[in-house]
Amino acid sequence: MSESEANVDWDAEARTFDEEADHGLRDPEIRRAWADRLRGWLPAGAADVLDLGCGTGTLSLLAAEQGHRVTGVDLSPAMIDLARAKLAGRDAAFLVGDAATPPVGEQRYDVVLVRHVLWTLPDPARVLRHWRGLLRPGGRLVLIEGRWGTVSPVGIPADRLTELLAPVAGHVRVERLSDDPLLWGKTVADERYAVVAMD
Ligand SMILES: C[S@@+](CC[C@H](N)C(=O)[O-])C[C@H]1O[C@@H](n2cnc3c(N)ncnc32)[C@H](O)[C@@H]1O
Repeated sequence: MSESEANVDWDAEARTFDEEADHGLRDPEIRRAWADRLRGWLPAGAADVLDLGCGTGTLSLLAAEQGHRVTGVDLSPAMIDLARAKLAGRDAAFLVGDAATPPVGEQRYDVVLVRHVLWTLPDPARVLRHWRGLLRPGGRLVLIEGRWGTVSPVGIPADRLTELLAPVAGHVRVERLSDDPLLWGKTVADERYAVVAMD
């Protein structure tokens, strides 16, 4: 992740996006590490999961493999094409649209899942309120974010995201991810975490 990543041409990036270890999860150990974490963040029973900024559908696929129904939204048509191909034949739908105001009409979800996207969106407090409104009663936000880099770090520190969530969630659990090299395919020194936020 870099400062310029907030202004990336994601259509141009789509073809090679999965080459990063934590993007494509092509290494079975890395894939298993993410699958195990995701299982802990998602409800035990089959749920409707909205994956915002879904990219090539990597987490969408893990969620579908765990028995959940997935809707993915991404601004990049090229990413959406790859996600559709990756989840072909599964209980999943993909839409081109803005993660800040996803084009899902009156549909409501058990989980809004977002990895490495919130930090790039303008006015995250407003976005979190909107996402909260997309949840069914008892639903949860699962947000995987970080603050990447050491010289000019970019992203959202967990403390800041916890503050932003205070008005929209009664219970916020932060899980540190930096100390698990299996998730990233390498040792990392910067701040990486997941937040599960519920009523
Ligand atoms: C770092 S990638 C993360 C992809 C995916 N969440 C994952 O973890 O593999 C960021 C993704 O967010 C998408 N994106 C960026 N801004 C967006 C926006 N405003 N609305 C929807 N998608 C957006 C990009 O097209 C890209 O697919």
